[in-house]
Amino acid sequence: MDLNIRLPSPVEDIAGPFIIDERNADKTSLSSKISVLVKRDDLIHPIMSGNKWRKLSAALTTISQQQYQHVASFGGAYSNHLHALGYACAALNINFTAVVRGDYSKRLTPTLQDLQRWGTHLHFVSKIEYKNKTSAQYCQLLRQQLNADYLIPEGGSHAKSIVGVGAIMTELETQAPDITHIILPVASAGTLAGLVLNETLPHVKIIGVGVLNGEGYLEDLVNGLLASSTPSYQRKEWKILHDYHHGGYAKTSASLRQYVSEFNQFYADQNRLRPLAIEPIYSGKCFYALNALLSADYFPSNSKVLILHTGGLQGARSLPANKNSST
Ligand SMILES: Cc1ncc(COP(=O)(O)O)c(C=O)c1O
Repeated sequence: MDLNIRLPSPVEDIAGPFIIDERNADKTSLSSKISVLVKRDDLIHPIMSGNKWRKLSAALTTISQQQYQHVASFGGAYSNHLHALGYACAALNINFTAVVRGDYSKRLTPTLQDLQRWGTHLHFVSKIEYKNKTSAQYCQLLRQQLNADYLIPEGGSHAKSIVGVGAIMTELETQAPDITHIILPVASAGTLAGLVLNETLPHVKIIGVGVLNGEGYLEDLVNGLLASSTPSYQRKEWKILHDYHHGGYAKTSASLRQYVSEFNQFYADQNRLRPLAIEPIYSGKCFYALNALLSADYFPSNSKVLILHTGGLQGARSLPANKNSST
């Protein structure tokens, strides 16, 4: 299986210019006591970017080795997960059905247009039917209906995804062994669970930023994934912050939009060797949260904080600036 995945993803220092809000210009703590690094998983591949390759690699290996014929998975009309999986299945010559939440047949999003171009079968289901996505009985019926022999859960978060995500920690053991915290966005929780379960760098604290309004729900997802894995594994300390979802999944606020736009402008002007950009659904909320935590002196002195850039810029391609605003 060769998808031309570029690993390890680079780790970059963004400490100096990271706080771009002028209100924080007088803060010296960042440069003097806290360092901030970013792990550029967004650069792993132009399409299988961010956490997608990490979460899908083990399943894709099984699918190609055991010669499954037809994969199906769930997601929304802008889903980064469906986009990445559809691309991988096309590259590996495997049939793929995307089970899409809501009927977008008459207004295909850029994500769905790409999928269609890659030969994905688009199966639209109502938002009510979609709620059954985790019911074993529904999944069984769906597999029969679609004639699919391998079903991957929404967001690609399942027991197998944990193994692939763990590779991030193995890379970090060489690239940045002295980090104290990792901060990352959380939606279906597979990425956070994979970092928590990997045995490398056990002292590192994992901080999730909930990108949807899901206090309790997100913790249950993590605990469910942890419970489905080998119990003897040592777990890292973890928590999820719930103050940075800006109204819910794919919702934004004026301050988030401003932050993302200033951030992107700032880093575009830097003319970096590897351009750095964020979007408002996942990475934007996470960088925004990190900025707020740094401003509030949340981290102990001498912390070395690594933010995981989980990619996802494709999903925001058609987001008008004010779409889904919460404020
Ligand atoms: C770009 C991006 N970042 C972060 C996440 C959140 O990861 P997880 O669903 O594993 O919590 C997702 C969703 O899969 C995503 O598409």
